[in-house]
Amino acid sequence: MANRIHPSILNANLAALDDEIARIPSSDGIHIDVMDNHFVPNLTLGLPVVECLRKNHPDSFLDMHLMIENADTWAPQYAELGCESVTFHLEASQAPITTARKIRSAGSRASVALRPQTPIEPLADIIAEFDMVLIMTVDPGFGGQKFLDSMLPKIERTREIAKRTGQELWIQVDGGVSESTIERCVDAGADVFVAGSAVFRADEPDAMVNALRDKADLRCGH
Ligand code: DX5
Ligand code: ZN
Repeated sequence: MANRIHPSILNANLAALDDEIARIPSSDGIHIDVMDNHFVPNLTLGLPVVECLRKNHPDSFLDMHLMIENADTWAPQYAELGCESVTFHLEASQAPITTARKIRSAGSRASVALRPQTPIEPLADIIAEFDMVLIMTVDPGFGGQKFLDSMLPKIERTREIAKRTGQELWIQVDGGVSESTIERCVDAGADVFVAGSAVFRADEPDAMVNALRDKADLRCGH
């Protein structure tokens, strides 16, 4: 799978999202962090805002990252809005298989996220239910944190599990991804890269998107 760069809008101007999205035309997807101040100690936006973003950006790949409790109730509703990918946290779900199937049947890619302390192994037997696994490389909740190198073996083990099943599983990394950490993620087996502060604090965000993708592509010989 080609490497994909999905800038996170968490560190953008959240009151001017249309303008911020227009600054990153080269991105492969827009990573939207939904936080409920319960699953994580931060609060961002929800369904009504995403519904507007969907209307205003019909051609964008909307990559939803739900850091919210009651994922089984909420996640399918983002799929019904027409978001291309919906990621919910395993720790916030009672019925991940049912939820993933609802997301897929609404036409979206189903994806599951793991906090740093949550192992991948319990998902090994049900990995075919998912199109992507998001490995958090910081504690979820805030942008601008330092990348956790200790997560690299988990990315490797996730890629191994996907190889065994033969499915084309996307592996996303989120947290502290930048020009100085992206190569380690590529080497471990990730192919979808979320970058928040690295992109939106750059002088030229779109140039940074391309620089990150070039670096990833070069690393895996594309
Ligand atoms: C944090 C969010 C991330 C965040 C990443 O919980 O899930 O998407 O925006 O920000 P950076 O890239 O700055 O670590
Ligand atoms: Zn995120």
